[in-house]
Amino acid sequence: MKRALLALATIAVLGGAATVADAQNLQVIQQRREAMRALGQNSGLVFRMMRNEAPFNLAAVQAQLNAVLEHAPRFRTLFPDDSRTGDTEANAKIWTARAEFNAVIDKWVADARAASTAIVDQATFAAEYPKVAPACGGCHSANDSFAPALSQSFRRAQTPLR
Ligand code: HEC
Repeated sequence: MKRALLALATIAVLGGAATVADAQNLQVIQQRREAMRALGQNSGLVFRMMRNEAPFNLAAVQAQLNAVLEHAPRFRTLFPDDSRTGDTEANAKIWTARAEFNAVIDKWVADARAASTAIVDQATFAAEYPKVAPACGGCHSANDSFAPALSQSFRRAQTPLR
């Protein structure tokens, strides 16, 4: 009887630990998906400005670059080992090529910082934004990348997160 109780207690403790670990996974996956959604929100508008399909708007460009400066550095820590699986579309390459992943993030942040200083009007936007814009597609491409193609990720961003 005592042994049976002990076994039950052990199962309860292990079960509890598993639940805590799962909760952490869910949280970090949700945080990075929210951050990506924040980056996705205005990126379409700025892309259209680049193609002259939307009027130039310096404030919107600065807001997008500030969003990158705010969120991109966080991606270094938002992909811990216990968040490989679950409600995520992150590619396994993040965990097998971590140094490369971090280098991509660092370059992205440096390019966004340079662009946010350099862009003061439409002419500097046209010259400087194309240097930072390809970052999204760099991670989000069909082959051997860190994330699904952008079109797929944008579709996913239309679905509720919780
Ligand atoms: C350093 C690599 C990297 C860069 C750069 C990057 N992404 Fe992502 N993005 C990811 C990964 C990985 C995911 C998948 C996250 C998950 O499902 O856990 C993702 C997910 C997304 C999603 C889907 C969010 C959801 O609802 O699940 C959108 C939208 C998105 N990214 C847009 C962008 C845009 C726009 C840019 C450029 C401004 C960008 N990403 C730059 C790696 C990157």
